[in-house]
Amino acid sequence: MKILVIGGGGREHALVWKLKQSALVEKIWCAPGNGGIAADAECVARDGGDVPAIFALAEKIAPGLTVVGPELPLVHGISDAFTARHWKIVGPLLQAAQLEGSKIYSKQFLLRHAIPTAKMYGAFDSVADAYAALDRVAWPLVLKADGLCAGKGVLVAKDKPEARAFIERVMEKGELGPGGQRMLLEEALEGDELSFIILTDGHRYAPMVPTRDHKRVFDGNAGPNTGGMGAYSSDDLLPAGLRDTIISTIVEPTLRGLARDGVSYQGFLYVGLMLTKAGPKVLEFNCRLGDPEAQAIVVRMDFDLAEVLADVADARLDPAKLKWKSGASACVVLASGGYPGKFDVGKTISGLTCIEAYTGVSVFHAGTRRHGDALVTSGGRVLGVTAAAASIQDALQKAYDAAARIHFEGMHYRKDIGAPAGRLKAVGD
Ligand SMILES: Nc1ncnc2c1ncn2[C@@H]1O[C@H](COP(=O)(O)OP(=O)(O)O)[C@@H](O)[C@H]1O
Ligand SMILES: [Mg+2]
Repeated sequence: MKILVIGGGGREHALVWKLKQSALVEKIWCAPGNGGIAADAECVARDGGDVPAIFALAEKIAPGLTVVGPELPLVHGISDAFTARHWKIVGPLLQAAQLEGSKIYSKQFLLRHAIPTAKMYGAFDSVADAYAALDRVAWPLVLKADGLCAGKGVLVAKDKPEARAFIERVMEKGELGPGGQRMLLEEALEGDELSFIILTDGHRYAPMVPTRDHKRVFDGNAGPNTGGMGAYSSDDLLPAGLRDTIISTIVEPTLRGLARDGVSYQGFLYVGLMLTKAGPKVLEFNCRLGDPEAQAIVVRMDFDLAEVLADVADARLDPAKLKWKSGASACVVLASGGYPGKFDVGKTISGLTCIEAYTGVSVFHAGTRRHGDALVTSGGRVLGVTAAAASIQDALQKAYDAAARIHFEGMHYRKDIGAPAGRLKAVGD
């Protein structure tokens, strides 16, 4: 099997790392890849969001299977383009990807199919109407820009001035680009957040192990939001009762709803949940694996990912094939000084030589590139140090021990990844 992976972050390195372990795989390309992926795949300098460029690349190299990491190519219709040519690809078609591409579409989908979610106050394409609606809502209020906004499109506002300022920035001034032309206002939910990710071929589905990520930059969930500073997975993260509830009240109604709407969804579907006192409710859908959740997930896979993804592309997923290592995993993200604000790039990274052999951890690269013989930083999130073990404590220990060997100027990371492990038991059942 020859596989093309689209994307160039830690999630894509994790996918490449796992795909490469398959005896079925003879070649992997990655577009654009990064400095670490280059050791495991042939990187091709193409922008993943540029569908014509990826299409032209696929025409030339003729991969037997294409796996899409990020949302942008999907929302730009890469799966439609490939499917029209009968090229195998894992990732939903444009219409199905609207579950992520439009928060308003996604909210209307949830309401139409009576799937638990935050109450909607309204969806607006007029600034005046959005301002006016602020008189009819409860506080705090959640404001969501409709389209893709790179994680900057949602605000939980405590009062009207804060909400007004956000509407002004996003809708009037267009600071987040076209994704901010429409705005959804919804009820604020309280509880713990949980990511529940499934893989589906449009008929059957298989859940990934449950994960939780850490979005704030500093320990104790302090500081601004990031793309994700770490993630963990453990068997006891999700009690069986709650898992069943999520499947019966959220996952299966979602798949039935898609079928009823005549939308065929194929690929990874990420369900962002708030575990409220009234049960789990959907915060959002993503049409892909999360990053860094993917890193914590792949190290627990005890199956041939290439075989399973090929099955998905052929619409013959066998959920029984997805076996998991029991225990836990953790991914600690090492970030550039200043991230998520302004940061420098081009810092030399040291301490990576033989680290996988010494420590048994996997270091997934996100913002790295090769510079001669050296590896240097090229992004805000630089590396995801990821370990699987029998317990979350052991997984964290391994990941943190390895992280301590790695260095680049300004490097920082959270010391409390996985800290809330186990807390759910008190909330969930
Ligand atoms: N209805 C809600 N109630 C409380 N918090 C919310 C709600 N919706 C979103 N959030 C918070 O905002 C974050 C981002 O929202 P989300 O819908 O996941 O959008 P995105 O990931 O595209 O920015 C969530 O992880 C959650 O912390
Ligand atoms: Mg989110």
